Amino acid sequence: MASIGRYLRVAFGVFALWLVVAVALPAQAQQPSSVNPTASSVKEQQLLQELNRIQGRVSIPDQRSGVLEQPAGRDWRSFRDVTLRWVGGIAILGMLAAMVIFYLTRGMVKLEGGRSGRNVVRFNAFERLVHWMTASCFIVLAITGLNITFGRPLLIPLIGLEAFADWSQWGKYAHNYLSFPFTIGVILIFLMWVGGNIPNKVDVEWIKRGGGIVGHDHPPAWRFNAGQKLIYWIVVIGGGAVAVTGYLLMFPFYASGIEGMQVAQVVHSIVAVLFVAAMLGHIYIGTIGMEGAFEAMGTGTVDVNFAKTHHSLWLEQQKAQDAANSARSAAASPAE
Ligand code: HEM
Repeated sequence: MASIGRYLRVAFGVFALWLVVAVALPAQAQQPSSVNPTASSVKEQQLLQELNRIQGRVSIPDQRSGVLEQPAGRDWRSFRDVTLRWVGGIAILGMLAAMVIFYLTRGMVKLEGGRSGRNVVRFNAFERLVHWMTASCFIVLAITGLNITFGRPLLIPLIGLEAFADWSQWGKYAHNYLSFPFTIGVILIFLMWVGGNIPNKVDVEWIKRGGGIVGHDHPPAWRFNAGQKLIYWIVVIGGGAVAVTGYLLMFPFYASGIEGMQVAQVVHSIVAVLFVAAMLGHIYIGTIGMEGAFEAMGTGTVDVNFAKTHHSLWLEQQKAQDAANSARSAAASPAE
């Protein structure tokens, strides 16, 4: 009896085991066919086509963080990681290479007839203060901005992740805060010098004769020649463009949505790298490219021969003004 009971228990156990396996097996067998591994991405693709974005709901107050995918984001990322680096690299390294070649073939443009020993005031203290404030902010903005574009691939292998993170954080603070004095500088530069930078017929002649740096000719010019006017408008328009687009990025979602900020980033970064290339040319001419030029922004005066060579019409105007001033003060002073 006992052995029959044992057999029955074993038989029941085997049956129960078989039942469990039989029920479980079809489910397991069905799994590969019921779960299509690409189904969710197919649905995503359909969503993307229907709505032009994949968006969900989030439990934090900022609902904008629920956007997972928007097609313009991929184009933007490829611009940011590939196109921008090429454009920036070519513009900046190309300008540096052109300057080296130019210096080796043309050398420093010398003051014809040497120095006269007499000076004429070119920029007053306020003008120089504004110039150097804007220029120093620009240099820091350029270095810290280029760090955002090129820092990862160039610096991480050299200084490591930790040091790069620290330096980039300080760079970002500098980029944000120095944008304010830079913007003020661009506005003041616009107001201070707009009068002397309106293009006119003299500029056309100056360009035709190759200015004072390309050829060996010294065509007449007023206070600013066509080359300097070009730099002026690059600063005003380029500075204005990086300021507007920069503030759109610095204060996200205040004035534009995500697409607007992508456009702002594209404009900001492209204008910025071209701006850096143009300023390299400006720095070259103001230092090693042309004898006597740096002192205009250093001490505020230039040699009379420098003014005669590069700004002949302006020098004549200054002389006429001085003569008129001294005649006026002579007439105003009482006769003895
Ligand atoms: C008012 C002036 C400016 C403001 C408000 C500003 C603001 C900004 C902001 C918010 C960013 C984004 C940073 C980030 O991704 O975290 C940025 C990036 C950048 N800025 Fe400026 N910026 C200004 C001027 C300049 C100037 C003068 C230059 C160059 C001379 C410059 C070059 C760059 C570059 C190259 C980037 C990196 C672009 C990238 O790779 O994504 N910025 N700027």
